[in-house]
Amino acid sequence: MLTVEPLGYACGARIAGADLSKPLSDHDLGVIKAAWTKHLVLVFPKQQITPVDLVAFSRHFGELEDYASQPFNRHPDINEVMVLTNKRTNGKASPTYNAGQNWHTDLSYTIRPAKGTTLYCLERPSVGGDTMFANMYLAYETLSPKMQAFVDGLEGIHDASLIQGLEKRGPEIAAEYKRLNPPVIHPAVRLHPESGRKALYVNERVRQFVGLSEAESKPLIRFLCDHSVASRFVYRHYWSVKDVVMWDNRCLTHLAVGDYDPNESRHMIRTSGKGDYVGRRVETERPQNAARPAASAEIAAGIAALRD
Ligand code: SIN
Repeated sequence: MLTVEPLGYACGARIAGADLSKPLSDHDLGVIKAAWTKHLVLVFPKQQITPVDLVAFSRHFGELEDYASQPFNRHPDINEVMVLTNKRTNGKASPTYNAGQNWHTDLSYTIRPAKGTTLYCLERPSVGGDTMFANMYLAYETLSPKMQAFVDGLEGIHDASLIQGLEKRGPEIAAEYKRLNPPVIHPAVRLHPESGRKALYVNERVRQFVGLSEAESKPLIRFLCDHSVASRFVYRHYWSVKDVVMWDNRCLTHLAVGDYDPNESRHMIRTSGKGDYVGRRVETERPQNAARPAASAEIAAGIAALRD
């Protein structure tokens, strides 16, 4: 029998009694789905699973990403599995050695951001290397009504070049990452299709708001990012080897804390669910009947200039 034990007030619950290497009954799947909607981050300890099992489990929550937008460290045989590791291969640094080290929500720099992510810990450093999750429902709900009304009408430009440490992965990887992922536009507030709650959708990979200048956008982005990751909105996961952790990217931001000895291994495999929502590229005009203003050519030009 499955049990659900909350781990934090903001988010997080431990599911005991699940064996993710085996097919799940409809009943257990229902318990897990309900717990995911309520707790946003689920931890399944002591799982002995293969990459194929991880894919099979993740598919219960929808179609999976093939990581075509970041094909740098996929599993050699399974495109749906990304290897997040600091282990070197033939003396070369892994292209994912410093992944996720600023507050973000997975694949928000693509037009179809990931719905959920499932991460399996195979090796962890002796200290550090935690993952922090911030509840973006609470971040939105604790804004003043006037600020809520303002951000409700905003759209953010998400830019892969703001991934922390991207340039350190090497000039070819950084250039290819940016080529595959030109800036995209998403609403600053998203309505979660299952909970019906609004969540702030602004994080450290947002460069600017559509229709606001860069000077106007920057302090607001900084305020919203700082506000959303206040300690009262955060659950910090201390990893044990063989933990599977799944989270909802539609209502959380997260951060991989880089506070560990780089000579010790941190080795994880990950799947991400294809998003249930599609944004648009900066250059793309909105349909004629859309309510919000289109991103201007000046913004696209501004971003290009910033990158030069
Ligand atoms: C991620 O950002 O998806 C990975 C988080 C982690 O490695 O802790």
